[in-house]
Amino acid sequence: HPAELERARRLIREVPDYPSPGILFRDIAPLLADGQALRATVEALIAPFRGAFDVVAGLEARGFLLAGPAAYASGTGLMPIRKAGKLPRPAASARYALEYGTAEIEAHDDLPAGSRVLLIDDVLATGGTLIAARTLLAELGYVTAGTAILFEIDGLGGREAFGDPALHTVFHS
Ligand code: PRP
Ligand code: MG
Repeated sequence: HPAELERARRLIREVPDYPSPGILFRDIAPLLADGQALRATVEALIAPFRGAFDVVAGLEARGFLLAGPAAYASGTGLMPIRKAGKLPRPAASARYALEYGTAEIEAHDDLPAGSRVLLIDDVLATGGTLIAARTLLAELGYVTAGTAILFEIDGLGGREAFGDPALHTVFHS
């Protein structure tokens, strides 16, 4: 529903100079706190991919907040993609660049080979996280059936770097 989504969009709080000077942080906590906004947002996230995926993968940490309700609303299972060192039996890992240094994500291989995965995260900035997640899923033998992001920050090259025309974002700056 467009009016509900517009209301949800206005609940995303802009926090200047967080976590560091010059960064405009998009805080989705007020949106998550609102039942109607959360429902409308989760529905909009999964809408283009309905019936086309077997499981939802969420990216730690803030992606988990959306992937759980998305999986529940879809009637599918949920796959956590975690920051390195948090899973007991990681089957694959992928590195990505941060402003300073690198980070690493890991996942289990608990799904059947060829499982169709809907990849979900809260924010797309440079695209580094998402590219690593897609690489990780491929390494595990899964198919990325779709990628859905709540908020896309324009002008940081994330969409171009990810290079998937079907990348779905609910809001953008
Ligand atoms: C944030 C955000 C996205 C990512 C986007 O995660 O939640 O996952 O950055 O940035 P990128 O497109 O440049 O990769 P972060 O790991 O900072 O924190 P989180 O653990 O709170 O999700
Ligand atoms: Mg994150």
